[in-house]
Amino acid sequence: MQVDLSGQRALVTGASRGIGRTIAEALMDSGARVVAHYHRERAGAEALVRGRDGSVALAADLADGRAAAGLFARALDALGGLDLVVNNAGVALESPLDSPTDDWLRAWDTTMAVNLTASGVLAREAVRHFAAHGGGRIVFIASRAAFRGDTTEYLAYAASKGGMVALARSIARGCGKQGVKSFVLAPGFTRTEMADDFIARYGEAYAMKDVALDRMTEPRDIAPLVVFLASGLADHCTGTSIDVNAASYVR
Ligand SMILES: NC(=O)c1ccc[n+]([C@@H]2O[C@H](COP(=O)([O-])OP(=O)(O)OC[C@H]3O[C@@H](n4cnc5c(N)ncnc54)[C@H](OP(=O)(O)O)[C@@H]3O)[C@@H](O)[C@H]2O)c1
Repeated sequence: MQVDLSGQRALVTGASRGIGRTIAEALMDSGARVVAHYHRERAGAEALVRGRDGSVALAADLADGRAAAGLFARALDALGGLDLVVNNAGVALESPLDSPTDDWLRAWDTTMAVNLTASGVLAREAVRHFAAHGGGRIVFIASRAAFRGDTTEYLAYAASKGGMVALARSIARGCGKQGVKSFVLAPGFTRTEMADDFIARYGEAYAMKDVALDRMTEPRDIAPLVVFLASGLADHCTGTSIDVNAASYVR
């Protein structure tokens, strides 16, 4: 079995670093052309697409839903269409229960805007485009937290990821006849800058506590799954959630 994504066009949000960067790289290595979206890390996204014919880096602040819709339109223009959207960009903002209400609400609103609202906006745009152009696929990078829950400092994070799962499932069930397939990947701790913040606070031993394998999950453990889902070989798994957590949470 060989996977060849030649001719496919993908938008990967949060492709400047971490999981999104490795996903975008794997898609390009498999023949796809990619819009590598970034927010602040322009250099990372531009370096990623350098020398990759037909791939481009585009900026947008996904805390703004209108900017998310604008990103989709610009990605369509850049690639002449889209076949895959990977909703990967995300934030994990620590927000203790006893923080001042304004602070807690600010963190809640930003988390929901970036993780959930932007994913919803992009998914809506994708569904409408795919339905009119022979179909397509959406991959939502959610989290183990959507299913297991998280600590009380990360209530908004877990809730936003649960929302992404409901979104992905609803699209799979509601839009399949229009050729739209929708999948969730649910990573556990993965070695990126996002996890670094957590490890700095709680320690590596805590992050590894429930992991059954001998090392923490890395972006390279996640990216091949996106390539596989993009290939169409797993279309009848539409609506499914794939855990990538080294058996730290088996359900
Ligand atoms: N790492 C983990 O342990 C883990 C576990 C489970 C799930 N996940 C999920 O996997 C996804 C990627 O995580 P990661 O660990 O690779 O994170 P990361 O290294 O912190 O990278 C986050 C990405 O999201 C982008 N981003 C952040 N705020 C944004 C905003 N306001 N507008 C647009 N883009 C924004 C960043 O863009 P710039 O760099 O350009 O600013 C960056 O590309 C996230 O959805 C995360 O929740 C991660």
